Amino acid sequence: MTLIDDNPTTTGSEVPDVHAWVARIAELTKPARVVWCDGSGAERHRLIAMGVRKGTLEPLPEPHYGSYLVRSAPDDVARVEDRTVIATTDPDDAGPTNNWRDPVDLEAELVELFDGSMRGRTMWVVPFSMGPVGGPISQLGVQVTDSLYAVLSMGTMTRVGTAARELIEAGAPWVPAVHSVGYPLEDEFGQPVREDVAWPSNETKLIAHFPESRQIWSFGSGYGGNALLGKKCFALRIASAMGREEGWLAEHMLLVRVTSPEGRQYHVAGAFPSACGKTNFAMMTPSLPGWKVETLGDDIVWMRRDEQGRLRAINPEAGFFGVAPGTSEATNPAAHQMLWGNTIFTNCAQTADGDVWWEGLTPTPPLGLVDWTGQPWSPESGRPAAHPNARFTVAAEQCPTLADSWDDPEGVVVDAILFGGRRATTVPLVAQARDWAHGVFLGATMASEKTAAAEGVVGEVRRDPFAMLPFTGYNAADHWSHWLEQGELLGENAPALFSVNWFRKDADGGFLWPGFGENSRVLEWVVARLEGRVDAVDTPAGLVPRTEDLDVAGIDLAREALEELLTADPADYAREADGVAELFALFGDRVPAPLLAQLEELRQRSGGALGA
Ligand code: GDP
Ligand code: PGA
Ligand code: MN
Repeated sequence: MTLIDDNPTTTGSEVPDVHAWVARIAELTKPARVVWCDGSGAERHRLIAMGVRKGTLEPLPEPHYGSYLVRSAPDDVARVEDRTVIATTDPDDAGPTNNWRDPVDLEAELVELFDGSMRGRTMWVVPFSMGPVGGPISQLGVQVTDSLYAVLSMGTMTRVGTAARELIEAGAPWVPAVHSVGYPLEDEFGQPVREDVAWPSNETKLIAHFPESRQIWSFGSGYGGNALLGKKCFALRIASAMGREEGWLAEHMLLVRVTSPEGRQYHVAGAFPSACGKTNFAMMTPSLPGWKVETLGDDIVWMRRDEQGRLRAINPEAGFFGVAPGTSEATNPAAHQMLWGNTIFTNCAQTADGDVWWEGLTPTPPLGLVDWTGQPWSPESGRPAAHPNARFTVAAEQCPTLADSWDDPEGVVVDAILFGGRRATTVPLVAQARDWAHGVFLGATMASEKTAAAEGVVGEVRRDPFAMLPFTGYNAADHWSHWLEQGELLGENAPALFSVNWFRKDADGGFLWPGFGENSRVLEWVVARLEGRVDAVDTPAGLVPRTEDLDVAGIDLAREALEELLTADPADYAREADGVAELFALFGDRVPAPLLAQLEELRQRSGGALGA
C-alpha cells in the first residue's frame, strides 16, 4: 500500500476519492468502527455525553455552563518540536531549522506505527474547511482521528461538516490528515488488551508532514498543536509550503481591526511566538480613550494579494485555543467574558466546588485546589496548580470583541504587521522598519525566550524567524525570499512593518511595560506613523518613537523606564548582529542577498556613532 504518493491537493484529475482514502486508512489502522462527522449540534452533544461517560470530560458547575475540564496525560502537555518532522526529497528543502526526514523512510516508519493503532477504537472522519467554506483564500481538509478530544476540538477550531464534505466529494482539492493517539484496545485477534483511559496517548510521538504531497500524519499525542491537525500542521506547516508555491502567505499571526477616535479603521497583523501575547493582543481592551480593537484572529493568518494588488488576510480558524494562565478580568476582560460557557479547559486546576482556576485568574489561589494532575494542591508545594500551558478551547463567536467582518471570505486589507518576541533586554518597545527589506530582516531575525507552549528549557533565548521556527514547512531562508518577493509585488500597497517587545525587564526582573490594554499606546503610535503624523528616531533597531510621541499619560511609568523602553543600545545591537550572523550561517548561500546587506548595515549602525 502506498500512503503518500498521491497528491490530493493538485487540482484536476489527481484528487483522490475521499471514501477510497478513508477505506485505505481504516485498512491500515483497523478501527472497530468508522464514523463520519457532520459538525451538527446533535453530534457535539453525543460526543460530549460520551466524553463525560468515559471520564475524559468533567462537567463544570454553573456559571461555566456547558464547559468541561480535561486532564491530559502528564507527558502530553505541549507541542513536541523534536519529534515534529518535515519530509522532503531534498533535505535542503526542509532546511536546517526543521527536522528533516526522507519521505520513503518516514512512510515505512508511519506504516509500522499506524498498523492496527486504532484497534478497538472509533475512527472519526472529520471533513473541515480552514476559512469560510468555499472562500477564495480558504482550503479544505479531512482529519481522521481516534481521539474524542480531537474531534470535539476540531469542531470548535475549524468549520467541520457537510458543507466541506460536499465540496470534497465534488472534487475540490483537500489535505488529508491522519491522527492516532496510538492506544489500541484490542490485539490482532480482536481480544481486549486494555481498558480505555481518560486521556489515551503513546510514549512514542511523531508529528509528520509531507509538504510535497501535502499530507499530515500525527501519532501518539492528543495535545492541541500535535492533534488538531487543521491548526499548526495544516494551516502553518503545509499551508506555508502551499503558499510559497502558489504565491501567498500562511503566517503565525493575530489579526485585529483598530479604530481610531476619529473613526479611521486599520487592520493590523502580529507575529508573536507561542505564548508571547497573540491571543491577548487580539482581544485587547484599549486603555486609551476613544480607541477600539476588534478581534479577527489570534493565531494564524493567511494572506493573498487581491486584484487591486493589496494584501488581504483571513483567519482560517473558527475558534481560539488560548493559554489560560495569566488570563483574568484585569488582563484580558474580553477573553475572560468569552469563557462564560461552552468551553473546554485543559490542564487547569480545579476548585473545591468543581470550577476551574489557574495562576493569575485571581490574585490569591482559593483554598482546597486540586492541581492539573488531579492531586490536592497548596501554595507551599512550590508547583503551579494549573499547567503553565493550560488551555481553553472556545468558539470565535463567543468573543465579545469579535469584528463583524471576521468571517468575510474575502478577508481584510492589512495595513501594518508587527513582529514581537519575548526579550528581557535589547529590543525596544516598538520600532518601525525603514523599508520592506528591513522589515523582513526584523521578522527573519526576531528572537524570543522559550515558553511552556513547547517542550524544553523555558526562558532560553532562541532565534525564531517570523515566529515560525517550529511552523515553516520548508527552508526558512526560502521563506524570507518569499517575503521579499511579496514585498516587490505589493510595492506601494505593502503594509508597514514594525517590531514590538512587551517583555523588556528592569534590573529587578520586573516588566518595564505594563502591557495588555496599555499596548494600545503602541498601536496609537503605529497608526500615527501610518498616517504620517509623527517623526521617529533612527536607531540600530529601526525607527523608534521620540519619548514625547508615545502617550503614557495615566500610567505608572518612570521617565527612565520610558527612556529605557525606547533605547536601542548600539553595544546590544553589535551582539545582536553576531547572533544574526550565527543564524544566517546555518543557511549558507540560501540567505537572500538583501538580508545580508541588512546585516552589514546593522553592523555599521551598531558599531558606528549613529543614534538619535
Ligand atoms: P499566545 O500564545 O501568543 O496567544 O499568547 P497569549 O496571549 O496567550 O499570552 C501568553 C502569556 O503571555 C500569558 O500568560 C499572558 O498573560 C502573557 N502576556 C500576554 N500579553 C502580555 C503583555 O502585553 N505583557 C505581559 N507582561 N504579558 C503578556
Ligand atoms: P500558541 O500555540 O501558543 O501559539 O497559541 C498553540 C499550540 O502550542 O498548539
Ligand atoms: Mn494564543
